[in-house]
Amino acid sequence: MPDGVIIHEGSTDILVPELHSSGGPGKIQGGVFFNEQMAFNRDISVMFLRAVGRDLTVADAMTATGSRAVRIANEVKGTQVTANDISPDAIPYIEANIELNKLENCSPSNRNLHSLFADEAFDYVDLDPFGSPAPFVQSAILGCRKKGILAITATDTAPLAGAHAPKCRRRYQSEPVRGYMCHEGGLRILMCSIARELAKFDRGMKPLLSFYADHYFRTYIQIEEGAEKADKMMALLGYMKYDMATLERSTSVHYDPEHKYGPFWLGPLHDQEFVSRMDPAGMAVEKRCTKYLDLWKNELDTEVFVYDMSELSSFVKMSPAKLADFVELLNTNGRASFTHISPTSFKTDLPLNDIISLYKEASPDSKK
Ligand SMILES: C[S@@+](CC[C@H](N)C(=O)[O-])C[C@H]1O[C@@H](n2cnc3c(N)ncnc32)[C@H](O)[C@@H]1O
Repeated sequence: MPDGVIIHEGSTDILVPELHSSGGPGKIQGGVFFNEQMAFNRDISVMFLRAVGRDLTVADAMTATGSRAVRIANEVKGTQVTANDISPDAIPYIEANIELNKLENCSPSNRNLHSLFADEAFDYVDLDPFGSPAPFVQSAILGCRKKGILAITATDTAPLAGAHAPKCRRRYQSEPVRGYMCHEGGLRILMCSIARELAKFDRGMKPLLSFYADHYFRTYIQIEEGAEKADKMMALLGYMKYDMATLERSTSVHYDPEHKYGPFWLGPLHDQEFVSRMDPAGMAVEKRCTKYLDLWKNELDTEVFVYDMSELSSFVKMSPAKLADFVELLNTNGRASFTHISPTSFKTDLPLNDIISLYKEASPDSKK
């Protein structure tokens, strides 16, 4: 057994290098990568695959210590898991973790994922790279069986959210948007880039769950087969106008000098019915899972992205009401919800003028 410490996550034991990351994007510290904070991300995979509810072949293509792979094999019935990593240093950890949990449905694999997916296809393919998944998406699509599921993480938050726009243009061929909607924008750029890759193979997509948390973006996509599905998917890509001075925003399926941000995925982020089937009981960070599931289930999918109370407060120059009270007020005039993107943001289908006048009405300053 390689050197390390055993941690307990969900109902699984995982041997990891003693020196490992406990937050942020993390970095390799003890030879093989492990980040404790990603327990939430692994919890989501377990809940997600349980909700799929059928036997699945799974490829955790960049598994490092095998943490996600062994959690899936141990905690999701009916899975046959391949725990793959290109690094030979990862293999002793993967083997030890299979042994530790006495798993018969998990096998180690030491391959470059490009060659793995040229040879073999799976029902569920997971990509969890350092930084951008862009160089790996095409291989992952090839490695996904008909009507399979792709799960992709991106930790290159700065380019996707517009802090390094040239890198976003290179990796994703999209113009990122800045300001309070930058994280939703980043998530939707990632999803758009996957859609454009799928279209090359006459495949479409239905997102089942997509989110921004901590330092990363993550999307779970049900692949749909055929040119017709691909065309329908392409019709959901589009551009955004956003004027920080006036807060005006709108979307368009075509690029024009005003609608200059994007392209983004403008379809739904989640399948709410699917998310309702995900059960947080017994997860490593159960409370956090419960909170996010609740946000995702109730999140409005509006044409334009999130609004933020801080953005409105600096525009209107009046202090904000409590977000819960304001969302309630918006809901009496139209539809509104909290969002998982930020605790100060909300979504609504009301026009900007209505949002501004309701903001003024709700502001504690107007009651003085
Ligand atoms: C961020 S770590 C994965 C963390 C892991 N999924 C977890 O939850 O702990 C990225 C891993 O991808 C592996 N990797 C990089 N390029 C690869 C490739 N072309 N094929 C397979 N694995 C690769 C690295 O060796 C590294 O272990």
